[in-house]
Amino acid sequence: MSVFAELEALNVLVVGANRGIGLGFVQKLLGEHRVKHLYATYRLTPTPQLQNLADQQNDRLQLLSMDITDEVTIAQAITTIRQQVDRLHLVIYTVGFLHTDEIQPEKSLQQIQPEVLLRYFQVNSIGAILLAKHLLPLLKHGDRSVFASISAKVGSIGDNQLGGWYGYRASKAALNMLMHTAAIEYGRKAPKVILVMLHPGTTDTELSQPFQRNVPPEKLFPIERTVSQLLTVIDQLQPEDTGQFFNWDGSRLPW
Ligand SMILES: NC(=O)c1ccc[n+]([C@@H]2O[C@H](COP(=O)([O-])OP(=O)(O)OC[C@H]3O[C@@H](n4cnc5c(N)ncnc54)[C@H](OP(=O)(O)O)[C@@H]3O)[C@@H](O)[C@H]2O)c1
Repeated sequence: MSVFAELEALNVLVVGANRGIGLGFVQKLLGEHRVKHLYATYRLTPTPQLQNLADQQNDRLQLLSMDITDEVTIAQAITTIRQQVDRLHLVIYTVGFLHTDEIQPEKSLQQIQPEVLLRYFQVNSIGAILLAKHLLPLLKHGDRSVFASISAKVGSIGDNQLGGWYGYRASKAALNMLMHTAAIEYGRKAPKVILVMLHPGTTDTELSQPFQRNVPPEKLFPIERTVSQLLTVIDQLQPEDTGQFFNWDGSRLPW
């Protein structure tokens, strides 16, 4: 990866690796020979797919438990990593939710529920900034590094023509603001870090599954394609890109 051209070995953390796009990143990154240590987090228990990957890799892939809504588990996972390595080069934050069995994205103001809005913020926005808080020691070093958070185009205020999905949209807009602000502080404290937000494009995962009916097939990406595209965007990042919000094709998205 050319953003890391000068590095012979990379330590990588994928947060939210149990399924979907996060699991796809783990699968793809295991094929990168320069990836020396790959840390992958799950929330409750590893899925068989993630566990199988770990079983095949000896210690190269390590699974760590992290519930992004529980700061103690974030701190514990990072402590474990710090006992093994003194630096990370690539962090990919893929945690996010749009719907659960109980929660559907709002179609109208009548469906707004404060506790649901709070849940969207807790998972989609606050988790990433807690991670930025705890990861600073592992990213404060002289090597180039990238901290990429998977955001969503629907979190763009400027691009919002359709309305709806209040909580998800607002939580991704908040994610963008929190991480843009973190990029400024990182710029002072850990200036070799490029911190970006990435829109993956509509991807065939459980998250998008109920909403795929109106998506033309060519605009619904398989996970492998999304991961390759996002790694290409990461690969081409420049120091001045820090704090910015990119589409899956590398173009800039409006705030
Ligand atoms: N798929 C799309 O079309 C699309 C489009 C735009 C943006 N995105 C964004 O891309 C990212 C990945 O989405 P995806 O499609 O891969 O979704 P997914 O298949 O539903 O996976 C979501 C991941 O987030 C994890 N997660 C949820 N709550 C968590 C918590 N409290 N703590 C830790 N992990 C938690 C899940 O872990 P568990 O298995 O433990 O629940 C799972 O690994 C999300 O940020 C999403 O908003 C996706």
